[in-house]
Amino acid sequence: MAIQTGTKQAVGAVELLKQDHRKVKELFKEFEQAEESSTKGEIAEKAIKELQVHSQVEEEIFYPEVRAAIDDPELMNEAKEEHHVVDLLIEEIQALSPDDDAFTAKFTVLAENVKHHIEEEENEMFPEAQKARLDMQDLGQRMAERKQELLAEITHGRNSRNGSKARRGNGNARRHSVRSKR
Ligand SMILES: [Fe+2]
Repeated sequence: MAIQTGTKQAVGAVELLKQDHRKVKELFKEFEQAEESSTKGEIAEKAIKELQVHSQVEEEIFYPEVRAAIDDPELMNEAKEEHHVVDLLIEEIQALSPDDDAFTAKFTVLAENVKHHIEEEENEMFPEAQKARLDMQDLGQRMAERKQELLAEITHGRNSRNGSKARRGNGNARRHSVRSKR
């Protein structure tokens, strides 16, 4: 639900992330219903792009702020490791052709992992973040801007998986200099 400020039109951070979650779950459903491997390949590609941008925005902007604002490092560590597992699965899926027998199996496992992660975020992390004194409008605004940048980079083919990791590292390094996160 968007947080009302009366002045800004920006979507609050949590609502922005929930919109992404809905989009990706919709793509998972489409994948399940698809029969042609070429269709599955296209849907998987779209879902992976969504997931990569979403995870990067969370890791660069949302997670450090939430980690600093709530007293639950275990929850944050778990979320980070879940992203890591998703990254590994994406890497394996990208190495396969949609015609490969393992493609659907791996993508299905990816979808199950992501759905579990979404549930934990929506049922545990987001409520905790909402209880903390975070400026969700400002966070949402920054995340929306970063998301547009990353989508543009991917569209222009500059945000390869490795490239995106390097940038993610830089983003974290920048954040380290302004606030301590553990
Ligand atoms: Fe996440």
